[in-house]
Amino acid sequence: MTKTVYIKTVGCQMNVLDSEMVIADLKRHGYEVVDSPNDADLLLYNTCSIREQAEEKTYSALGKLRETKARHPDKKIGVLGCMAQKDQEIIFRRAPFVDMIVGPGQLHALPELITKVDAGEGRQMAVSLGRKDGKQSLVARSHETFDPLRDPTMRPTPFQAYLRIQIGCDKFCTYCVVPNTRGPEQGRAPSEIVAEARTLAEQGALEITLLGQTVNSYRHRGEDGETDLAALLEQLHEIDGIRRLKFVTSYPKDMSRRLLETVRDLPKCSPYLHVPAQSGSDAVLRRMKRGYTIAEYMEMFERIEEILPNAAVSSDFIVGFCGETDADFQQSVDLVRRCRFKNSFIFQYSVRAGTKAAERLEDDVPREVKAQRNNELLAVQDEVAYDDNQKLIGSTVEVLVEGPSKKASKADPDAAAVQMTGRTHCDRIVVFDGNRRQAGQFLDIHVDDASSHTLIGRVRQVELVSIGV
Ligand code: SAH
Ligand code: SF4
Ligand code: F3S
Repeated sequence: MTKTVYIKTVGCQMNVLDSEMVIADLKRHGYEVVDSPNDADLLLYNTCSIREQAEEKTYSALGKLRETKARHPDKKIGVLGCMAQKDQEIIFRRAPFVDMIVGPGQLHALPELITKVDAGEGRQMAVSLGRKDGKQSLVARSHETFDPLRDPTMRPTPFQAYLRIQIGCDKFCTYCVVPNTRGPEQGRAPSEIVAEARTLAEQGALEITLLGQTVNSYRHRGEDGETDLAALLEQLHEIDGIRRLKFVTSYPKDMSRRLLETVRDLPKCSPYLHVPAQSGSDAVLRRMKRGYTIAEYMEMFERIEEILPNAAVSSDFIVGFCGETDADFQQSVDLVRRCRFKNSFIFQYSVRAGTKAAERLEDDVPREVKAQRNNELLAVQDEVAYDDNQKLIGSTVEVLVEGPSKKASKADPDAAAVQMTGRTHCDRIVVFDGNRRQAGQFLDIHVDDASSHTLIGRVRQVELVSIGV
């Protein structure tokens, strides 16, 4: 008999990709995916630890399963992802009805753990070694990547796929849990990556987004020398069927001239770079241990402007980091005004157990001040994005159509003519009146209007040349 699985995914693109792998694996073991936890024999929560709020949401969702489990003891519950690695048995303590805890580096073990739970062997846990639990190579090996298993139905759209090129992170920014939850930085072998990209192209992917926490630091040493991201992009660019290549997230210090020139010279590479600054203040950056000053960030930014003058650059900021004064914060505001990012994700600092900042620095910016700075920075970011998007009115942009917009999906799920949404090569979101059949097409859209987050346009009619009839 087929068994059913429900999976809820939160967190970053890495988790979206991990969930795709998990489902591909479980389907091979006879599972079928359902949309509601009520219909599922197996309930999976793929979790994120980046901020406290993300964890609390998951604990509260788990709390609601207490009764479900009491009524249906045969349903199995699994907690996957970064929280599983970070909290380990704490999850069993806070939610004793959970059956399995599986860290992001041990996801391949899930089917075996399910078998053990089914066989009455009790609760199961598979996590990777901690950063200090052994030699670097041993720790690295315990964070396994199991990428070749793919399942197109789990993608954001059938035409867009993620591809992991790097796991883990070695930068150790003082606020961040990722080096602990995802382990040491490891670049996957180019041959594996290229083979996977070919599979994705055969499955209909037109756009591939390469994933890594510091994706532009990617390096792999093999028998035929070292491959960096630029060399990898050159190989991927050859694959028929792939029309666009993106990569996230970039680390400012590793944005080399060679990489930018490669993006410029390979037409499939999107002129879009996500290079988080995190703060505009040198003092804060030093406490974050980001490894660059604002002068260095600006040098990198100017290099992007010189080599890729039409590129869109986006950023992340943390507001209210330990010791951030009003003057420090104003420097983040200044940076947004100077760089005019396409968009920025802005986060209020959240203390994470096990990080250097939690151990050594005081979380001294009051909650209200963090909230106020968050709003202020967001307002400035929206203002620059609004002004820059206004300049695109009247132009024509090429869009990969993703599907009906959120608004359209809610309004009438069966209507054929609906508002559609897509993205430009620079990752700008575009909505237009269209038709569901246009999903997966590249269309020229004439931009009529713009807000800070969205361009609004219409499909450009192909000019009909009179042939004298
Ligand atoms: N590897 C990526 C980002 C990973 S996490 C990079 O280095 O840019 C995504 C974003 O979450 C980070 O860029 C940062 O802005 C934010 N973040 C990470 N830890 C945080 C914390 N403890 N509190 C608030 N925001 C945090
Ligand atoms: Fe976290 Fe810094 Fe690594 Fe990004 S680079 S994942 S912020 S430690
Ligand atoms: Fe969250 Fe882990 Fe991603 S902590 S942001 S799911 S790497």
